[in-house]
Amino acid sequence: MTSRDFVLGLAATAVALAMLPAVAGADTIVGSDHDFSGDGWSGGEICVACHTPHNADTSVTNAPLWNHSLTTTSFTLYSSATMNATVGQPDGSSKLCLSCHDGTVALDSFGGKTGTSYIGGGQNLGTTLANDHPVSITYNTALATADGSLADPATAQVTIGTSGNGGRTKTGSISAIMAPDGKVQCSSCHDVHNTYTNGASLLVKSNAGSALCLTCHVK
Ligand code: HEC
Ligand code: HEC
Ligand code: HEC
Ligand code: HEC
Repeated sequence: MTSRDFVLGLAATAVALAMLPAVAGADTIVGSDHDFSGDGWSGGEICVACHTPHNADTSVTNAPLWNHSLTTTSFTLYSSATMNATVGQPDGSSKLCLSCHDGTVALDSFGGKTGTSYIGGGQNLGTTLANDHPVSITYNTALATADGSLADPATAQVTIGTSGNGGRTKTGSISAIMAPDGKVQCSSCHDVHNTYTNGASLLVKSNAGSALCLTCHVK
């Protein structure tokens, strides 16, 4: 091996190493809080706790091929004299999240099975949403106008996700990428298929300097 070959070899190794994070440290569900493949009850799979390719539960609007048992909780809702939006029972993807995060349905209740492992600690939001940011509220131009200090979701542009380290970003209007069903949902702020690359709590964008809050609230 000539020294030139050695240098080329090193360069190839460096390229290979540089590519590694695109897999191991990527902005995906692998190794995240929602990667249950290490838990005995998952059968070693990741997606199955939440999705199935066949015989999915279609009872929740916009549920993507849903496989997890649903919560039947009637939640205590956020209310406030200064709110312009109307808050109803959680629907859409928020109802899916709460089917583990309200602590009433076991994590391993999916595919028709009844499980026995429940979510614990600070990740259990419980059945009272009165002390949580409101979800399943319609967020449109009319609400922004009525409120006077909300960004117009139809026009305000935002970039979510992370760049670098194998990350992926998405840019578009708030409506298109943070409220695809026209509502603020859990997934407006959190990415269920992600690791911690925006700081803690699987946030769709960093909340340093309250950047996440300031995306929608013009304060
Ligand atoms: C802990 C539950 C959970 C797990 C595990 C999970 N998902 Fe999801 N997935 C969701 C929820 C909730 C939504 C709808 C809300 C959203 O997109 O944030 C969704 C939406 C989707 C969508 C449609 C919207 C989009 O983002 O493209 C696809 C496709 C998808 N998941 C694929 C997968 C695959 C593939 C896996 C396994 C590698 C997986 N999911 C694992 C909960 C999960
Ligand atoms: C199949 C059950 C299940 C579903 C469905 C689910 N989660 Fe989770 N989630 C969990 C569990 C269990 C943990 C904690 C894992 C751990 O501690 O290792 C968790 C952790 C989290 C965390 C991290 C909390 C922290 O301490 O930083 C966030 C944020 C989160 N989930 C949000 C969501 C959102 C948003 C959705 C819906 C889009 C969702 N989850 C759907 C089971 C679920
Ligand atoms: C408006 C944005 C927003 C919405 C909507 C939202 N969250 Fe969060 N969530 C956050 C932020 C920001 C944090 C981090 C809080 C912190 O670190 O102090 C967080 C933290 C969490 C945590 C970690 C535990 C905790 O209490 O710190 C979980 C679990 C969680 N959220 C789940 C959910 C679920 C489930 C929904 C829907 C019912 C939801 N979130 C809706 C912004 C939001
Ligand atoms: C995706 C857009 C979005 C994000 C991100 C967001 N909010 Fe909101 N938030 C709303 C909307 C829409 C309302 C309903 C406002 C209304 O109807 O008056 C709301 C309501 C609220 C309210 C209740 C207002 C009242 O009058 O009672 C507070 C407080 C609040 N948000 C704080 C926050 C904080 C703090 C953050 C960051 C952790 C945050 N929001 C992130 C969209 C968002």
